[in-house]
Amino acid sequence: MKKCEVIYRSGAHQWAAVTRDPDKPDHLIDTNEYLIQYGEQALLTDPGGMEIFPEVFAAISRSYDARNIRAIFASHQDPDVISSLALWLDFNPELKCYLSWLWSSFVPHFGGRKDTFICLPDQGDTLHLGSLALQAVPAHYLHSSGNFNLYDPKARILFSGDIGAALLPHDQQALFVDDFDLHIRHAAGFHRRWMGSNEAKLDWCERAAQMQIDMLCPQHGAIYQGEDVMRFINWFADLQVGSGVRRGM
Ligand SMILES: [Fe+2]
Ligand SMILES: [Fe+2]
Repeated sequence: MKKCEVIYRSGAHQWAAVTRDPDKPDHLIDTNEYLIQYGEQALLTDPGGMEIFPEVFAAISRSYDARNIRAIFASHQDPDVISSLALWLDFNPELKCYLSWLWSSFVPHFGGRKDTFICLPDQGDTLHLGSLALQAVPAHYLHSSGNFNLYDPKARILFSGDIGAALLPHDQQALFVDDFDLHIRHAAGFHRRWMGSNEAKLDWCERAAQMQIDMLCPQHGAIYQGEDVMRFINWFADLQVGSGVRRGM
């Protein structure tokens, strides 16, 4: 069962992680969703696939009023990211979906009206959740050619999508990275294969290293916090990517 766990709270400003699901069928990749709340409004990052919509919706609704979700942020176009879109829109047809302009005629195949989508330009943009300003940070080619992270400068949290993802064994369900060296073994194959550009990777690492990040929250696997954030950025900078086929995933 998925759970909704608060990872940051400051007054009415809150981040909650919808945790991985130990009971999900093995043929689906496990995902994390994050609910950012600010006062009465909330935004959901990478809401996930249609297969897991009931679990995500139930986990959120046990603690929160899902009617407060005003917007969805889709880091890229993958089915594990956004194929639940039509189900969310059945619940609330007025929901907005932020995504790269590059996918603005592809993702609507999952559902949505023309005015559902708010297209992000390549250089990124500022998103407003009430008076909270969030930044869509370019992460193109990591792995999708139109790809964004979402940064909350107040909470100092970066939602990093597939960057930082780890395919963890079934018995490792901890929310946060505990032992970086052990953890990163489960991230190496994923990054070598799915991240296609060393140039884009170094560009992202340079940008991320200059940001103040207390938590780096990926769509798959555990959350990096404290010194593990910079450990991850340095590890990623050194990793040769785009070589997964040769090395075997
Ligand atoms: Fe992906
Ligand atoms: Fe993913």
